[in-house]
Amino acid sequence: MEIRIERAKTLKPKPDQNHLGFGKYYTDHMFEIDWDKDQGGWHDARIIPYAPLQIDPATMVLHYAQETFEGLKAYRNPQGEVQLFRPEMNARRMQNSNKRLCMPYLSEEDFVEAVSKLVEVEQDWIPTAPETSLYIRPFMFASEPGVGVHPAVSYKFIIILTPVGNYYPEGVAPVKIWIEDEYVRAVKGGTGFTKCGGNYAGSLKAQEKAEEHGYTQVLWLDGNEKKYVEEVGSMNIMFLINDTVVTAPTEGTVLPGVTRDSMLTILRDWGYNVEERKLPVTELMEAARTGALKEAWGTGTAAVISPVGELYFKGEECVINDFKTGPLTQKLYDTLTGIQWGRLPDKFGWIKVL
Ligand code: COI
Repeated sequence: MEIRIERAKTLKPKPDQNHLGFGKYYTDHMFEIDWDKDQGGWHDARIIPYAPLQIDPATMVLHYAQETFEGLKAYRNPQGEVQLFRPEMNARRMQNSNKRLCMPYLSEEDFVEAVSKLVEVEQDWIPTAPETSLYIRPFMFASEPGVGVHPAVSYKFIIILTPVGNYYPEGVAPVKIWIEDEYVRAVKGGTGFTKCGGNYAGSLKAQEKAEEHGYTQVLWLDGNEKKYVEEVGSMNIMFLINDTVVTAPTEGTVLPGVTRDSMLTILRDWGYNVEERKLPVTELMEAARTGALKEAWGTGTAAVISPVGELYFKGEECVINDFKTGPLTQKLYDTLTGIQWGRLPDKFGWIKVL
């Protein structure tokens, strides 16, 4: 893919690395490419100064939500090099999201090249303070103006970058999770396995409810029976029940997380029993009540590994591991972040040094 580069005339001041928050600052440039059916597909790949988009009020994404996105990170390793973590997995997941939403998609090679080129141009924005990184947000939307429901004939694929710290205000500390028994996130045959904006819009009502009750995130039950635990709003979730790690299978309603897959690979490599199975919420709460639930943690690109300190379900609150980060959660966090920031050997071949 040929990428034209137009440099910004003035550069923004860089934010204080110790107070980055999450998604508050954007870099000087962005990647953009268009897809038009009548022009034979993808054309005009470019890195240009970061700027607002001008779109027609009839732009189809604003009405029918044909939109998908991804999230990955760039890290500065101890040798000063820039590295990405499993970017090809994000490329493949976006392809699967786009297929479900009747959208065209970039090849794995072009996706990774676009991400790599933009990060290279913006490498001075990669923060180096502990637990900080450069979050990469590729996204794509139907850009055709039109009223009438059908797959659009034109699209924009864009990548923006934001230097980030921890996703949760708690930092790497246990979060409180609300298990939702009224609203649902995904049903069989729906879009649960995709990263599309609509999934997140539909989750806000329950998130608002959870926050009103003092909980950080929602844990969704399956949308068909409201019986099995699936995923949390911003991450997948895993439970250490006695000596077995249990997590929901990715069978169409759960997002196939890159961090989720990495954790399962590491756990199996360490010899843990890992079960990807439907876990009834009643079994989970019973395990929490009796102490069989030793630890719980969320996994995600933004959230990294986030310990879960408390579960709430239908009026019952259960504290996990005295609301402390458990030893396995800590070991997983140290191992994953060690590989991502280049402090530990890349045993599984997950790192792409630019
Ligand atoms: C990510 O983990 O990268 C996500 O996109 C989750 C989002 C809630 C920030």
